[in-house]
Amino acid sequence: MEAHALTVRMLHPLFFPFLVLLVSGGHSLLAVAQGVDDFLLLGHALDEAPGDTLDKVARRLSLSKHPQCCTLSGGQAIELLAKDGDRKRFYFTTPMGKTPDCCFSFAGLRNQITMTIKKKEAEEGVGEGTLLSCVNDLAAAAQHTVASHLAERTHRAILFCKANSLLPADNPTLVVSGGVASNRYIRKVLAIITEWTGLSLLCPPGKLCTDNGVMVAWNGVERLREGRGILLPNQDVRYEPKAPLGVDISAEVRAAAIRLPRVRMKIQNNI
Ligand code: KG4
Repeated sequence: MEAHALTVRMLHPLFFPFLVLLVSGGHSLLAVAQGVDDFLLLGHALDEAPGDTLDKVARRLSLSKHPQCCTLSGGQAIELLAKDGDRKRFYFTTPMGKTPDCCFSFAGLRNQITMTIKKKEAEEGVGEGTLLSCVNDLAAAAQHTVASHLAERTHRAILFCKANSLLPADNPTLVVSGGVASNRYIRKVLAIITEWTGLSLLCPPGKLCTDNGVMVAWNGVERLREGRGILLPNQDVRYEPKAPLGVDISAEVRAAAIRLPRVRMKIQNNI
């Protein structure tokens, strides 16, 4: 996650602090990057990550059987099919609308989508494993709801940062990284939020968002330059299966209970 957050500095002269949204198959988090190994965690995933949700929805829709999708990841397949879909044909509730924090939850949304898939299967008289005729519309609605949830949490994080002077007054920036960040619809929705709030938006190119080798190597360069966490030969190494990213202030964010103004999300599907 640290590597995800820093990759953008390989390509842009971006100074600390900046806000990062990291969205992948295993993570979903919002943090203020204050230094190479200094982060404030504003919000994190409470259940599954957005990429995981999209992968599971794609699997439940049997998208690997779709001629255009057989070589794509679940998230890529959903993005591709959504381009020709009508997102308004299905309505899914944006998660955690009444919880004024920056945490993420996608399991309930997946459940809503699965229920709709089952209903459509019954209507079309087919079982699990058959491609539904409304697959494009379902993909568009699912993608839009994931994007809306990410946008709401990010909007609140920006307002929290502004209220607490956590970002520079000059050119405050949101960095979006991780496999899900390569989704052009999600980027577009986030661009509406950053434009609304006066932040710059930076997304490392899709190829870099998914290249863990490059990202971790760059993380090493950043740490080497700062002399942080550099091990000498023969020094003992302690592995941690799970390591938190920075200081968790998500409870503080929730206590601030920031309400969001309504932002109009008018986006074309086929961007
Ligand atoms: O960061 P990443 O490469 O790796 C790990 O999470 O380990 O992210 C992979 C995730 C997968 O869940 C994949 O479905 C999702 O990113 N993903 C996308 C897109 N491309 C990859 N999700 C939405 N839209 C995409 N275009």
